[in-house]
Amino acid sequence: MSWDSLIRPELEPMRPYQPGLRASQVRERSGVEHVLKLSSNEYPCGPVPAAVKAICDIATHTNRYPDGGSEALRDKLAAQLGVDRDTLVVGNGSNELLRLIGQVVLRPGDEVVYSWPSFVVYPMVADMFQAKKVVVPLGPGLVHDLDAMLAAVTAKTRLVFLCNPNNPTGTIYGWDAFARFLQRVPDHVLVVVDEAYFEFVTDPDYPDGLASFDGQRPLAVLRTFSKIYSLAGLRVGYGVMPLPLAEAVHKVREPFNINMAGQAAAYASLDDQVEVARRREENQEQKTYLYSCFDRLGIRYVESHTNFVWFETGRPVEVFEALLRHGVIARDFGNAPALRLGVGTPVDTKATIAAFEAIVSELGGI
Ligand SMILES: Cc1ncc(COP(=O)(O)O)c(C=O)c1O
Repeated sequence: MSWDSLIRPELEPMRPYQPGLRASQVRERSGVEHVLKLSSNEYPCGPVPAAVKAICDIATHTNRYPDGGSEALRDKLAAQLGVDRDTLVVGNGSNELLRLIGQVVLRPGDEVVYSWPSFVVYPMVADMFQAKKVVVPLGPGLVHDLDAMLAAVTAKTRLVFLCNPNNPTGTIYGWDAFARFLQRVPDHVLVVVDEAYFEFVTDPDYPDGLASFDGQRPLAVLRTFSKIYSLAGLRVGYGVMPLPLAEAVHKVREPFNINMAGQAAAYASLDDQVEVARRREENQEQKTYLYSCFDRLGIRYVESHTNFVWFETGRPVEVFEALLRHGVIARDFGNAPALRLGVGTPVDTKATIAAFEAIVSELGGI
Protein backbone atom coordinates (compact mmCIF):
# COMPACT_ATOMS: atom_id res chain seq x y z
CA MET A 1 0.00 0.00 0.00
CA SER A 2 1.38 3.42 -0.88
CA TRP A 3 0.33 6.49 1.07
CA ASP A 4 1.46 8.57 -1.91
CA SER A 5 -1.32 7.14 -4.03
CA LEU A 6 -3.83 7.42 -1.20
CA ILE A 7 -3.31 10.97 0.00
CA ARG A 8 -3.99 13.88 -2.39
CA PRO A 9 -0.52 14.82 -3.71
CA GLU A 10 -1.31 18.54 -3.68
CA LEU A 11 -1.25 18.42 0.14
CA GLU A 12 2.45 17.49 0.10
CA PRO A 13 3.90 21.05 0.09
CA MET A 14 1.42 22.29 2.70
CA ARG A 15 2.43 22.66 6.34
CA PRO A 16 0.08 22.47 9.32
CA TYR A 17 -0.81 25.75 11.01
CA GLN A 18 1.85 26.53 13.63
CA PRO A 19 0.35 28.03 16.76
CA GLY A 20 2.50 30.28 18.97
CA LEU A 21 4.34 28.80 21.96
CA ARG A 22 2.19 27.87 24.95
CA ALA A 23 2.94 29.35 28.37
CA SER A 24 3.73 25.89 29.79
CA GLN A 25 6.36 25.29 27.08
CA VAL A 26 8.06 28.57 27.90
CA ARG A 27 7.90 27.90 31.63
CA GLU A 28 9.72 24.61 31.02
CA ARG A 29 12.24 26.16 28.65
CA SER A 30 13.17 29.33 30.49
CA GLY A 31 12.29 28.45 34.06
CA VAL A 32 10.37 31.73 34.35
CA GLU A 33 7.34 31.16 36.56
CA HIS A 34 5.12 34.03 35.42
CA VAL A 35 4.78 33.82 31.67
CA LEU A 36 2.83 36.33 29.56
CA LYS A 37 1.36 34.72 26.47
CA LEU A 38 1.09 37.66 24.11
CA SER A 39 1.47 35.66 20.90
CA SER A 40 -2.05 34.74 19.76
CA ASN A 41 -3.99 38.00 20.06
CA GLU A 42 -6.26 36.57 22.72
CA TYR A 43 -7.92 38.90 25.19
CA PRO A 44 -5.96 38.62 28.45
CA CYS A 45 -8.97 38.19 30.80
CA GLY A 46 -11.61 35.52 30.79
CA PRO A 47 -15.09 35.56 29.30
CA VAL A 48 -17.69 38.01 30.65
CA PRO A 49 -19.39 36.75 33.87
CA ALA A 50 -22.66 35.87 32.12
CA ALA A 51 -20.74 33.69 29.67
CA VAL A 52 -18.95 31.85 32.48
CA LYS A 53 -22.30 31.18 34.13
CA ALA A 54 -23.77 29.96 30.83
CA ILE A 55 -20.85 27.54 30.39
CA CYS A 56 -21.31 26.15 33.92
CA ASP A 57 -25.09 25.87 33.47
CA ILE A 58 -24.73 23.91 30.24
CA ALA A 59 -22.21 21.42 31.66
CA THR A 60 -24.82 18.92 32.83
CA HIS A 61 -26.66 18.97 29.49
CA THR A 62 -23.78 17.91 27.29
CA ASN A 63 -25.11 14.37 26.89
CA ARG A 64 -27.23 15.92 24.11
CA TYR A 65 -26.09 17.18 20.73
CA PRO A 66 -26.00 20.96 20.44
CA ASP A 67 -28.45 23.01 18.40
CA GLY A 68 -27.21 22.08 14.93
CA GLY A 69 -28.08 25.41 13.35
CA SER A 70 -27.00 27.63 16.27
CA GLU A 71 -30.53 29.01 15.91
CA ALA A 72 -30.79 31.02 19.13
CA LEU A 73 -27.37 32.56 18.66
CA ARG A 74 -28.12 33.46 15.05
CA ASP A 75 -31.43 35.09 16.06
CA LYS A 76 -29.71 37.18 18.68
CA LEU A 77 -26.83 38.15 16.41
CA ALA A 78 -29.24 39.01 13.60
CA ALA A 79 -31.19 41.34 15.90
CA GLN A 80 -28.04 42.99 17.22
CA LEU A 81 -26.41 43.41 13.80
CA GLY A 82 -29.61 44.33 11.97
CA VAL A 83 -29.25 41.59 9.34
CA ASP A 84 -31.51 38.80 8.11
CA ARG A 85 -30.86 35.71 10.27
CA ASP A 86 -30.64 33.53 7.18
CA THR A 87 -27.59 35.43 5.99
CA LEU A 88 -25.76 34.47 9.19
CA VAL A 89 -23.61 31.37 9.44
CA VAL A 90 -21.86 30.40 12.67
CA GLY A 91 -18.50 28.68 12.40
CA ASN A 92 -16.16 26.71 14.62
CA GLY A 93 -14.15 29.90 14.89
CA SER A 94 -14.10 32.24 11.91
CA ASN A 95 -11.24 30.02 10.78
CA GLU A 96 -13.72 27.32 9.87
CA LEU A 97 -15.73 29.81 7.84
CA LEU A 98 -12.64 30.84 5.87
CA ARG A 99 -12.14 27.21 4.90
CA LEU A 100 -15.81 26.51 4.21
CA ILE A 101 -16.05 29.54 1.94
CA GLY A 102 -12.98 28.27 0.09
CA GLN A 103 -14.60 24.86 -0.15
CA VAL A 104 -17.78 26.17 -1.72
CA VAL A 105 -16.26 28.61 -4.21
CA LEU A 106 -12.75 27.48 -5.19
CA ARG A 107 -11.97 25.19 -8.08
CA PRO A 108 -8.42 24.14 -9.00
CA GLY A 109 -6.71 26.95 -10.90
CA ASP A 110 -8.92 29.74 -9.52
CA GLU A 111 -7.06 32.74 -8.18
CA VAL A 112 -7.19 34.02 -4.62
CA VAL A 113 -5.97 37.56 -3.99
CA TYR A 114 -4.77 38.63 -0.55
CA SER A 115 -2.24 40.98 0.98
CA TRP A 116 0.98 40.09 2.70
CA PRO A 117 1.88 39.97 5.50
CA SER A 118 -1.61 39.09 6.58
CA PHE A 119 -3.47 36.22 8.21
CA VAL A 120 -1.63 32.95 7.53
CA VAL A 121 -4.82 31.00 6.92
CA TYR A 122 -5.57 32.73 3.56
CA PRO A 123 -2.73 30.98 1.67
CA MET A 124 -3.66 27.74 3.43
CA VAL A 125 -7.23 27.98 2.11
CA ALA A 126 -5.96 28.63 -1.41
CA ASP A 127 -3.60 25.64 -1.20
CA MET A 128 -6.28 23.33 0.19
CA PHE A 129 -8.39 23.78 -2.92
CA GLN A 130 -5.54 24.02 -5.44
CA ALA A 131 -6.17 27.66 -6.12
CA LYS A 132 -3.40 30.02 -7.23
CA LYS A 133 -2.18 32.46 -4.59
CA VAL A 134 -1.94 36.03 -5.84
CA VAL A 135 -0.10 37.96 -3.16
CA VAL A 136 -0.15 41.74 -3.08
CA PRO A 137 2.32 43.36 -0.65
CA LEU A 138 0.90 45.78 1.88
CA GLY A 139 1.27 49.40 0.77
CA PRO A 140 2.84 52.38 2.55
CA GLY A 141 2.30 52.31 6.31
CA LEU A 142 1.72 48.54 6.03
CA VAL A 143 -1.89 49.19 5.02
CA HIS A 144 -3.78 47.07 2.47
CA ASP A 145 -3.21 48.62 -0.96
CA LEU A 146 -6.72 48.13 -2.30
CA ASP A 147 -5.91 49.70 -5.67
CA ALA A 148 -3.04 47.24 -6.16
CA MET A 149 -5.29 44.38 -5.04
CA LEU A 150 -7.89 45.44 -7.57
CA ALA A 151 -5.22 45.57 -10.27
CA ALA A 152 -4.34 41.95 -9.36
CA VAL A 153 -7.90 40.76 -10.05
CA THR A 154 -8.28 38.81 -13.30
CA ALA A 155 -11.00 36.80 -14.98
CA LYS A 156 -9.78 33.84 -12.93
CA THR A 157 -10.04 35.55 -9.53
CA ARG A 158 -12.68 33.88 -7.41
CA LEU A 159 -11.90 35.20 -3.95
CA VAL A 160 -10.33 38.29 -2.40
CA PHE A 161 -9.49 38.24 1.32
CA LEU A 162 -9.38 41.63 3.02
CA CYS A 163 -8.15 41.56 6.59
CA ASN A 164 -9.36 44.71 8.31
CA PRO A 165 -7.79 45.44 10.73
CA ASN A 166 -4.88 43.48 9.37
CA ASN A 167 -3.21 40.74 11.36
CA PRO A 168 -0.22 41.00 12.00
CA THR A 169 0.28 44.75 11.39
CA GLY A 170 -2.85 46.09 13.15
CA THR A 171 -3.48 48.56 10.30
CA ILE A 172 -6.78 49.49 8.66
CA TYR A 173 -7.87 50.81 5.30
CA GLY A 174 -10.48 53.57 5.37
CA TRP A 175 -14.01 54.19 4.07
CA ASP A 176 -12.98 55.91 0.83
CA ALA A 177 -10.51 53.23 -0.23
CA PHE A 178 -13.06 50.50 0.53
CA ALA A 179 -15.89 52.27 -1.29
CA ARG A 180 -13.65 52.76 -4.35
CA PHE A 181 -12.67 49.10 -4.22
CA LEU A 182 -16.25 47.85 -3.96
CA GLN A 183 -17.37 50.06 -6.82
CA ARG A 184 -14.74 48.64 -9.12
CA VAL A 185 -14.36 45.00 -8.11
CA PRO A 186 -16.05 42.78 -10.70
CA ASP A 187 -19.00 40.70 -9.55
CA HIS A 188 -17.44 37.32 -10.41
CA VAL A 189 -15.24 37.88 -7.34
CA LEU A 190 -16.31 37.08 -3.78
CA VAL A 191 -14.88 39.65 -1.36
CA VAL A 192 -14.38 38.26 2.15
CA VAL A 193 -13.78 40.95 4.76
CA ASP A 194 -12.21 39.41 7.84
CA GLU A 195 -13.05 41.61 10.82
CA ALA A 196 -11.72 39.44 13.65
CA TYR A 197 -10.61 42.57 15.57
CA PHE A 198 -13.66 44.70 14.74
CA GLU A 199 -14.62 45.40 18.37
CA PHE A 200 -11.22 46.87 19.24
CA VAL A 201 -11.30 49.62 16.63
CA THR A 202 -12.03 53.20 17.69
CA ASP A 203 -11.06 55.11 14.53
CA PRO A 204 -14.13 56.64 12.80
CA ASP A 205 -12.45 56.06 9.42
CA TYR A 206 -12.73 52.30 9.94
CA PRO A 207 -15.28 50.97 7.45
CA ASP A 208 -17.68 48.53 9.09
CA GLY A 209 -17.94 45.87 6.38
CA LEU A 210 -21.59 45.25 7.24
CA ALA A 211 -22.48 48.81 6.23
CA SER A 212 -21.72 47.72 2.63
CA PHE A 213 -23.55 44.41 2.91
CA ASP A 214 -26.76 44.43 0.88
CA GLY A 215 -27.34 40.70 0.55
CA GLN A 216 -26.83 40.95 -3.21
CA ARG A 217 -23.25 41.81 -4.00
CA PRO A 218 -20.74 39.00 -3.42
CA LEU A 219 -19.47 40.22 -0.06
CA ALA A 220 -19.05 38.23 3.15
CA VAL A 221 -18.11 39.74 6.52
CA LEU A 222 -16.53 37.52 9.17
CA ARG A 223 -16.19 38.20 12.91
CA THR A 224 -15.33 36.17 15.96
CA PHE A 225 -15.98 35.64 19.65
CA SER A 226 -12.31 34.64 20.08
CA LYS A 227 -10.89 38.10 20.65
CA ILE A 228 -12.64 40.77 22.72
CA TYR A 229 -15.19 38.23 24.01
CA SER A 230 -12.40 35.92 25.23
CA LEU A 231 -13.94 32.72 23.91
CA ALA A 232 -11.02 31.53 21.75
CA GLY A 233 -11.02 28.18 23.53
CA LEU A 234 -14.64 27.49 22.63
CA ARG A 235 -14.29 28.30 18.91
CA VAL A 236 -17.18 30.50 17.80
CA GLY A 237 -17.08 32.84 14.84
CA TYR A 238 -19.75 34.07 12.45
CA GLY A 239 -20.17 35.34 8.96
CA VAL A 240 -22.79 37.45 7.24
CA MET A 241 -23.09 36.51 3.59
CA PRO A 242 -25.62 36.55 0.75
CA LEU A 243 -28.25 33.83 1.05
CA PRO A 244 -27.01 31.55 -1.78
CA LEU A 245 -23.53 31.52 -0.25
CA ALA A 246 -24.88 30.91 3.26
CA GLU A 247 -26.95 27.99 1.94
CA ALA A 248 -23.93 26.49 0.22
CA VAL A 249 -21.84 26.80 3.40
CA HIS A 250 -24.57 25.07 5.42
CA LYS A 251 -24.35 22.15 2.98
CA VAL A 252 -20.69 21.50 3.66
CA ARG A 253 -20.32 22.41 7.32
CA GLU A 254 -20.44 19.72 9.96
CA PRO A 255 -23.95 19.02 11.24
CA PHE A 256 -23.16 20.17 14.80
CA ASN A 257 -20.20 22.47 14.18
CA ILE A 258 -20.63 24.69 17.24
CA ASN A 259 -20.50 22.98 20.60
CA MET A 260 -23.12 23.66 23.25
CA ALA A 261 -20.87 25.62 25.61
CA GLY A 262 -19.66 27.81 22.76
CA GLN A 263 -23.20 28.65 21.65
CA ALA A 264 -24.36 29.39 25.19
CA ALA A 265 -21.32 31.50 26.05
CA ALA A 266 -21.47 33.51 22.83
CA TYR A 267 -25.20 34.07 23.32
CA ALA A 268 -24.70 35.35 26.87
CA SER A 269 -21.68 37.49 25.90
CA LEU A 270 -23.71 39.57 23.48
CA ASP A 271 -25.67 41.08 26.38
CA ASP A 272 -22.59 42.59 27.98
CA GLN A 273 -21.74 45.43 25.61
CA VAL A 274 -20.77 47.58 28.60
CA GLU A 275 -17.90 45.19 29.30
CA VAL A 276 -16.98 45.10 25.60
CA ALA A 277 -16.68 48.90 25.64
CA ARG A 278 -14.61 48.76 28.83
CA ARG A 279 -12.25 46.22 27.27
CA ARG A 280 -11.89 48.33 24.16
CA GLU A 281 -10.99 51.35 26.27
CA GLU A 282 -8.55 49.45 28.48
CA ASN A 283 -6.87 47.99 25.41
CA GLN A 284 -6.42 51.51 24.00
CA GLU A 285 -4.86 52.71 27.26
CA GLN A 286 -2.44 49.80 27.39
CA LYS A 287 -1.36 50.43 23.82
CA THR A 288 -0.52 54.04 24.68
CA TYR A 289 1.70 52.82 27.55
CA LEU A 290 3.44 50.39 25.20
CA TYR A 291 3.92 53.13 22.61
CA SER A 292 5.46 55.47 25.16
CA CYS A 293 7.85 52.71 26.21
CA PHE A 294 8.75 52.01 22.58
CA ASP A 295 9.25 55.73 21.92
CA ARG A 296 11.51 56.03 24.95
CA LEU A 297 13.57 53.00 23.90
CA GLY A 298 13.76 54.01 20.24
CA ILE A 299 11.73 51.03 19.04
CA ARG A 300 9.82 51.64 15.81
CA TYR A 301 6.25 50.35 15.71
CA VAL A 302 3.08 50.65 13.70
CA GLU A 303 0.10 52.27 15.43
CA SER A 304 -2.40 49.50 15.85
CA HIS A 305 -6.19 49.36 15.69
CA THR A 306 -6.22 45.99 17.43
CA ASN A 307 -5.03 44.26 20.59
CA PHE A 308 -1.51 43.66 19.26
CA VAL A 309 1.37 45.81 18.05
CA TRP A 310 3.82 45.17 15.23
CA PHE A 311 7.26 46.49 16.11
CA GLU A 312 10.43 46.54 14.07
CA THR A 313 13.66 44.83 14.98
CA GLY A 314 16.76 44.11 12.95
CA ARG A 315 17.31 40.91 14.91
CA PRO A 316 13.92 39.25 15.39
CA VAL A 317 15.33 35.88 16.49
CA GLU A 318 17.50 37.36 19.25
CA VAL A 319 14.78 39.68 20.48
CA PHE A 320 12.16 36.91 20.40
CA GLU A 321 14.44 34.67 22.48
CA ALA A 322 15.33 37.48 24.87
CA LEU A 323 11.64 38.20 25.43
CA LEU A 324 11.09 34.51 26.19
CA ARG A 325 13.86 34.60 28.79
CA HIS A 326 11.93 37.42 30.42
CA GLY A 327 8.71 35.41 30.26
CA VAL A 328 7.09 37.30 27.36
CA ILE A 329 5.86 35.27 24.40
CA ALA A 330 5.68 37.41 21.26
CA ARG A 331 5.01 36.12 17.74
CA ASP A 332 7.73 35.84 15.14
CA PHE A 333 7.26 35.73 11.38
CA GLY A 334 10.23 33.90 9.95
CA ASN A 335 12.62 36.37 8.42
CA ALA A 336 10.37 39.41 8.77
CA PRO A 337 12.28 42.22 10.52
CA ALA A 338 9.53 42.64 13.07
CA LEU A 339 7.65 40.87 15.84
CA ARG A 340 4.03 41.03 16.94
CA LEU A 341 3.24 41.66 20.58
CA GLY A 342 -0.19 41.20 22.12
CA VAL A 343 -1.65 43.75 24.51
CA GLY A 344 -2.25 42.38 28.00
CA THR A 345 -3.79 43.61 31.23
CA PRO A 346 -2.39 46.72 32.96
CA VAL A 347 -0.26 44.42 35.14
CA ASP A 348 0.96 42.56 32.04
CA THR A 349 1.84 45.85 30.35
CA LYS A 350 4.03 46.90 33.28
CA ALA A 351 5.85 43.56 33.17
CA THR A 352 6.18 43.77 29.38
CA ILE A 353 7.67 47.24 29.57
CA ALA A 354 10.14 46.08 32.25
CA ALA A 355 11.13 43.18 29.96
CA PHE A 356 11.76 45.53 27.02
CA GLU A 357 13.83 47.86 29.19
CA ALA A 358 15.95 44.93 30.39
CA ILE A 359 16.39 43.56 26.87
CA VAL A 360 17.45 46.90 25.42
CA SER A 361 20.15 47.20 28.05
CA GLU A 362 21.21 43.54 27.60
CA LEU A 363 21.34 43.64 23.80
CA GLY A 364 22.30 47.29 23.47
CA GLY A 365 19.21 47.98 21.36
CA ILE A 366 16.45 46.26 19.47
C1 LIG B 1 -7.44 37.97 11.02
C2 LIG B 1 -7.95 36.76 11.69
N1 LIG B 1 -8.98 36.12 11.16
C3 LIG B 1 -9.48 35.01 11.72
C4 LIG B 1 -8.94 34.51 12.88
C5 LIG B 1 -9.49 33.24 13.43
O1 LIG B 1 -10.19 33.44 14.56
P1 LIG B 1 -11.11 32.29 15.18
O2 LIG B 1 -10.58 32.05 16.53
O3 LIG B 1 -12.48 32.90 15.17
O4 LIG B 1 -11.04 31.10 14.30
C6 LIG B 1 -7.86 35.13 13.49
C7 LIG B 1 -7.24 34.58 14.69
O5 LIG B 1 -6.20 34.92 15.13
C8 LIG B 1 -7.35 36.29 12.87
O6 LIG B 1 -6.29 36.94 13.37
